[in-house]
Amino acid sequence: MNAERTASPNARRTDLQDQRTDPQEAPEAARETAPETDSGAAARTAVVTGAGSGIGRSVALELLRAGWSVALAGRRDTTLRETVDLAAAELGDAVRERALCVRTDVSEPDDVTALFAAARERFGRLGLLFNNAGTFGPGGVPVEELPYDAWRHVVDTNLNGAFLCAQAAFRQMKEQEPRGGRIINNGSVSAHAPRPHSVAYTATKHALTGLTKSLSLDGRPYRIAVGQIDIGNAATDMTARMRSGILQADGDVAVEPVMDVADVARTVRHMAELPLEANVQFATVLATAMPYIGRG
Ligand SMILES: NC(=O)c1ccc[n+]([C@@H]2O[C@H](COP(=O)([O-])OP(=O)(O)OC[C@H]3O[C@@H](n4cnc5c(N)ncnc54)[C@H](OP(=O)(O)O)[C@@H]3O)[C@@H](O)[C@H]2O)c1
Repeated sequence: MNAERTASPNARRTDLQDQRTDPQEAPEAARETAPETDSGAAARTAVVTGAGSGIGRSVALELLRAGWSVALAGRRDTTLRETVDLAAAELGDAVRERALCVRTDVSEPDDVTALFAAARERFGRLGLLFNNAGTFGPGGVPVEELPYDAWRHVVDTNLNGAFLCAQAAFRQMKEQEPRGGRIINNGSVSAHAPRPHSVAYTATKHALTGLTKSLSLDGRPYRIAVGQIDIGNAATDMTARMRSGILQADGDVAVEPVMDVADVARTVRHMAELPLEANVQFATVLATAMPYIGRG
């Protein structure tokens, strides 16, 4: 675990100003019932796992653009820093005050504890966890040939890692004053329907739906809103195979359409910026023409 620290005494105040001018603030009715500080500076702090590439990077950039403070987590420090460099190139060097890189393996309980401790020390209150880190595992391996270690690696990352991060966020959100926060789990359309030879990925993504529902129920008394985004074919490293041709349910190999990852990031931001009294429980965002709806 390695944290990049560039704390500024003014960082919190800057975030508060951003929040007050944000057009997506809570509506009047919600503001009446929510404690004032809930829409204040510290509520706009997020932990984003897998923030060094693909969807996590795009979401981290979108949140930074919107004035959030973001703790970026992933196993590779260099790619996390690249994400912050991209933000700085677009938004100016001041954005570095709102970005904290924490090298983290989400499947390691001690790393996850250290991640949330570092985010808390730097930003205080936690408003959002985007539980995004994941792996497809070895694609195209039939179930009867899948090594147990490969199965376990996917389960450790996609399910156990998501649980550990959600548990750490839940604990903090339950204890902080005022209570509450939001967790968005990154599921998949594989939480609904498998691709051929994807047993580990599909099983963990189905399990994430159970994690989301359970946390959503258990979070109610504490103003913890838990939702899930199920994505299909956003253009990232993970979906590079869609563009070269991927095995279909009928045995064909076909190129599939993909969509811009920025369209996912905007959806996550919308979910993140709702008042805690409202929750997108499940959102499905996919490449419009991909083979999914209509059994192919
Ligand atoms: N792209 C899509 O169309 C699509 C569709 C459905 C669902 N998803 C989901 O979206 C999420 C992100 O995928 P992506 O498409 O953006 O692919 P990606 O670019 O491969 O991103 C995966 C990210 O997870 C991180 N990661 C993997 N194992 C980790 C671990 N043990 N600890 C911490 N971080 C870890 C990786 O960083 P490090 O290697 O540096 O750790 C990487 O940044 C995944 O959960 C995936 O299942 C994507």
